[in-house]
Order: sequence, then C-alpha cells, then structure tokens
Amino acid sequence: MKRILTGDRTTGKLHLGHYVGSLQNRVKLQETYDTFIILADIQALTTHFESPEKVRQGIYDVAIDNLAAGLDPEKATLFQQSRVGAIAELTIFYSMLVTVNVLRHNPTIKTEAKQYGYDDLTYGFLGYPVSQTADITFCGADLVPVGEDQLPHIELTRKIVRRFNQLYGEQAGLVEPSPLLSETSRLVGLDGNSKMGKSLGNAIYLSDAADEVKAKVRAAVTDPARIMLKDIGHPEICTVARYHEVFNKGESEDIASRCRKAEIGCAACKNRLAEVLNQVLEPIRDRRAFYEARPEHVREIIETGTERAEKIGNETVRRVRDAMHLSL
Ligand code: TRP
Repeated sequence: MKRILTGDRTTGKLHLGHYVGSLQNRVKLQETYDTFIILADIQALTTHFESPEKVRQGIYDVAIDNLAAGLDPEKATLFQQSRVGAIAELTIFYSMLVTVNVLRHNPTIKTEAKQYGYDDLTYGFLGYPVSQTADITFCGADLVPVGEDQLPHIELTRKIVRRFNQLYGEQAGLVEPSPLLSETSRLVGLDGNSKMGKSLGNAIYLSDAADEVKAKVRAAVTDPARIMLKDIGHPEICTVARYHEVFNKGESEDIASRCRKAEIGCAACKNRLAEVLNQVLEPIRDRRAFYEARPEHVREIIETGTERAEKIGNETVRRVRDAMHLSL
C-alpha cells in the first residue's frame, strides 16, 4: 500500500473550505492509501508561539474535525507532530541542505509573512518548509495531498531529498514525494472575500450548529445590484451562487437561471443553500457528537497514531545516520 501524508496546523477549528479542499478527499484516499494525518502543532507555533495553550486545544479540535469528517482511526494514523522526535532530528540534518536565500524567496513564505505582518521572520517560521520536509519524509510518504499554496514546499522537499541522496547515497531510502493537488479549488468567503479563512471571520465551521449555518448564509454577500425581488440577478458575481456550484451541483444551474430572470429571490436561494449545507454537515455533526462525548477515546487515537509514527520515524533516523556515517 502506498503511503500518503497530509495534515493541518493546529491553530483552531476547521471550516467548510477545509472540507471541500482537503478533508473530503482524505476520507476517500484512506481507502486506498496508508494515510498519515499530521496534527502540526510545531508548525502552528511558528505563528502562535505566544499562545501554546491555543495550539494544544487545536490538537483536539483538528483531530475531532478530521474524525467527524469521516477519517477512520482504523485506516488513518493521526499523530502529534511535536511528539515525533524523528521530525525534529531530520529537520536539523536537512537544514544544512537548504540556503537562507532559497527559503526567503519561497512564494508561500513571502505571502504568509505579509499576511501576518512580519517584517522580520523567526528562524522557525522561515524554516518551516524544512520541518515540513521532515514531516513528509520520516514515514516515506509517496504522495502529499495539498492545495496549490503548498506546491513550493513539496518542490523544496523533493530538492532536499535529491540533495541528500546525492551527498550521502540512497541507502537511507528517503522517498521523493509527489504532490496530489486537490481538484476542488478554494472556497470563497461568505463575505465575498476570495478565501474562506479562520482569521477572516467569514467561515462556516464544521462544528457550527444548523441555525448558525442558516444565519451565516443569510448574511452572505450577493449581487449588490439586486435590491428588489423584481430586479434581475447576476449569479456570476454572487457568492451564494458559487456555493451552490460547489455543494448543490444538481440544482445550481437551474437556480442561477431563475435568478437571472428574477424568478427566485435571494432569501429563497439562501434558504436552499443553508438546507444543502446542513445536509452535508449532518453526518459530520453525528460523528462529532460521538467523539466529543469520548475525549479519552480521542486522546487514545492520537496516542496510538503517535506511537506508530514514532517507531517508523526512529527507523528512518537510524538509516539516515547510517547513510551519513554518523553511527558509531
Ligand atoms: N503547511 C500545511 C498547511 O498549512 C500543514 C502541514 C504541516 C502539512 N505539515 C505538512 C501539509 C505536511 C502536508 C504535509 O496547511
């Protein structure tokens, strides 16, 4: 069985954008791949080092969101990044194989640094793509399901693996991974912002109750030119129409054409969307209720997954040290 590794920074709860962009895909992939889900608490600290308690809570939030989305602990290995010593050790070895300038020019690092308003970068933030290389290679992942923003990091991972093999030989058995780009592009925010984001305040969380979803959809931005029911609508510029396209494929064209003829109003269109979203979220809510009632069970799932990851990681580090002639 080929192995995949993907995961999330543990900075808070996951939302519908995560669901269509990655979680849904993971649930399918676990059937055919040995699936590793990293609860990336170290990477969360690169931006949240002042609030580690939030990062700790995030470990549970993200784990439960993954399980609620349908990740099966029998098929997927959920593990805590900071507990896998091999990740820290490999990060140090890899850090010799990448220059500061390469990291400084990484387009995702640049975008994120701007987003967070950093004018100088911590060593940890600048270097997180190196740490992510360790995340991916400690378990020899063949494929890394990611969104587009992560592609520069996977490219770096491939370069580091090639450099390592060239310098120290291939007997360490490091695997050069390929990205698996998710087919659903990012979800726009309900406020019309180009992206649904935790920090943007425009997200529907997987943990939102049905009436919260309704209220959020009701407040969504639509075609600003459409004031009265009799005004014709322009679904091509309407956020709610984008959501129908993603979550309500069967009806979206019909709704759009009725909107263009002023045969359906924004209130009815939004009500229908809220219904559809709640249908998607209902089974997720049921599984969440199961896991939230059993926090000890969730902790055990993470514990078991982390132990498996540690074992695999220790063997990788042993081979890496051998290849580098560092074993005495
Ligand atoms: N950087 C990823 C994100 O922000 C999270 C992540 C950490 C990750 N380690 C990873 C993703 C390894 C894929 C593989 O979403």
